[in-house]
Amino acid sequence: MTRINENYLKLKAGYLFPEIGRRVKAYSDANADKRIIRLGIGDVTLPLVPSIVNAMVEAAKEMGTPGGFHGYGPEQGYSFLINKIIEHDYTKRGVKISEDEVFVSDGSKCDAGNIQEIFSLDSKIAVVDPVYPVYVDTNVMAGRTGEVNAHGHYENIVYMPATEANNFEPEFPKEKADIIYLCYPNNPTGMVATKERLAEWVAFAHKSGSIILFDSAYESFIQDPTIPKSIYEIEGAKEVAIEFRSFSKTAGFTGTRCAYIVIPKELKGKTSKGEEISFNSLWSRRHTTKFNGVSYVTQKGAEAVFSAQGQKEIGEQISYYMENARLIREGLGASGYKIFGGLNAPYIWLKTPRNLKSWEFFDELLSKAQIVGTPGSGFGPAGEGYFRLSAFGKREDVLSAIERIQKI
Ligand code: MLT
Repeated sequence: MTRINENYLKLKAGYLFPEIGRRVKAYSDANADKRIIRLGIGDVTLPLVPSIVNAMVEAAKEMGTPGGFHGYGPEQGYSFLINKIIEHDYTKRGVKISEDEVFVSDGSKCDAGNIQEIFSLDSKIAVVDPVYPVYVDTNVMAGRTGEVNAHGHYENIVYMPATEANNFEPEFPKEKADIIYLCYPNNPTGMVATKERLAEWVAFAHKSGSIILFDSAYESFIQDPTIPKSIYEIEGAKEVAIEFRSFSKTAGFTGTRCAYIVIPKELKGKTSKGEEISFNSLWSRRHTTKFNGVSYVTQKGAEAVFSAQGQKEIGEQISYYMENARLIREGLGASGYKIFGGLNAPYIWLKTPRNLKSWEFFDELLSKAQIVGTPGSGFGPAGEGYFRLSAFGKREDVLSAIERIQKI
């Protein structure tokens, strides 16, 4: 019989969000009359804005004409989109990025999961605890870790706890790590990193010879103008960091799928013989081999995000979600909940009441208030006793959810 990849057997149960979905389905099957409010997975609820829809409709019509039909596009993404990304997200913020350093993809989850393929199998990774599970699970699948220990950590991963004690600002890895995953604004805690802190991370990566994988999928929710949106706003970051960006939460593309990754050509790794190789060339080889590009229609929709009207329309959606975040923060804060995040991020991280375990609070909220959130322990052992609420709900649901939670 054919052998399986046994690394998969090391994975803890199922992926977090399907597991939540399974529990919610079981509850709703047994309680069909109850209306469930979902503030769990960070999925947007507002529809695509008119400028994006119009651009996609026009592109679809173009595809139906002999002259406007597009077959396989460039795997890396169309220049019309890449140039808009560079101009809007980097040049305007004083960062120089060239066209061949941006790779358009179908999502940051895929990018953050696939990126580990271009690093040696014996590279050691460091992650924050709690953490977006994709960073860890994809390295487990690849065989970079041992089994889970009694504490709930995988052997051979360096964990950097982000707790109330350090204001959710993890310390640098205590042992040598080749690859450091950082996510700011943070999923799940909703906290951000100041420019000074990011500069310390970049300096640390230079000193320790590590690479930072910087997930900034939530940058558009930053309200404080002093907080960097890109790690490349820090001098020297291009030699040590890869950045992930997404249209999912910024512009409602969770179903439409479009994201991008930036790999500066200055970022180098070495072979076992000591030869220096740019990670950009490796990723380019991988991307063009395993991916056929995001559809023309989708990339046209993404391009419209950068038009003046597109910016105005998505800006209104972001404000709507951030107002949700404010309502949750203040509503639950006034009821005695200890609240973190939600100021520059669409996630609110709260301490569970009465020292309940995260999954106990999940079950209580579901059964008593029909609200779905995300148990903090699903993001790692340091998340135990915490709970994440998403601000991506519809306003009426957010208001009802606050009221229902206050009544518990
Ligand atoms: C989350 O809820 O953490 C995100 O929606 C997950 C994702 O973007 O894949």
